[in-house]
Amino acid sequence: MKGIILAGGIGTRLFPLTKITNKILLPIGRHPMVYYPMANIKKCGIKEVMIVTNRSHIGDFGSVFGSGKGCGVHITYAVQDEAKGIVDALKEAEDFAKNEEMLVFLGDCIFEKPIEYFYENFMNKQKGTGARVLLYKVTDPERFGVATIKGDHITEIEEKPEQPKSSYAVVGAYLYDKTAWDKIAKVTPSARGEYEITALNNLYIEEGTLEYDIVDGKWLDAGTFKTLLEAGNLMMKADSYYEE
Ligand code: G1P
Repeated sequence: MKGIILAGGIGTRLFPLTKITNKILLPIGRHPMVYYPMANIKKCGIKEVMIVTNRSHIGDFGSVFGSGKGCGVHITYAVQDEAKGIVDALKEAEDFAKNEEMLVFLGDCIFEKPIEYFYENFMNKQKGTGARVLLYKVTDPERFGVATIKGDHITEIEEKPEQPKSSYAVVGAYLYDKTAWDKIAKVTPSARGEYEITALNNLYIEEGTLEYDIVDGKWLDAGTFKTLLEAGNLMMKADSYYEE
């Protein structure tokens, strides 16, 4: 299993903070944001991690982690030249993760409690095949990928729908099997011109191999001033969950 942290993007909603650094390096409690996806990946026992970022910030991520030796993982760094969506960023990891399952983390995805249960369910219930997503009930689903659930199954995910069919957001941590790469090749740009992670997840739904867990504890997408502050306050209290 490989871990991939996606830290591209321009972070427009957080200007002017993101004029000086990458969104994923802004402080959350006692740490730069990227600490939390990395800590989650480590909690799942994954030792090989790739960070995909833009050309301006690759050195800053290097300053945080170096080779990764200090935190017990091996890190490879990659550059996404243009911000063309999550699946486009993921393509930079193809050679790195081609023959293995992967845990893909959006860098601004902050969980109060580590998500080992998610990884364990993928490995035990699905035997590492298909894909698995995490759902969280929100009051503003139109900001997210939104899952329609029937019984035990997700029947559809819609990206930022104007009229959401449920209040379950698909959060930014995803588990995929090796077939992801064939599917990624089939993803075409959405109406907003981005290669959407929701399009990839819907290909797994079509195949009948996408399963889910509900997030344990709180979850935040720390991509706005309000949620950045909330995430900071949350993790000042929840840091102990992430201790070694
Ligand atoms: C992305 C995904 C969306 C997901 C969200 C989680 O949106 O496209 O499906 O629900 O992350 O934070 P973004 O935050 O990049 O607009």
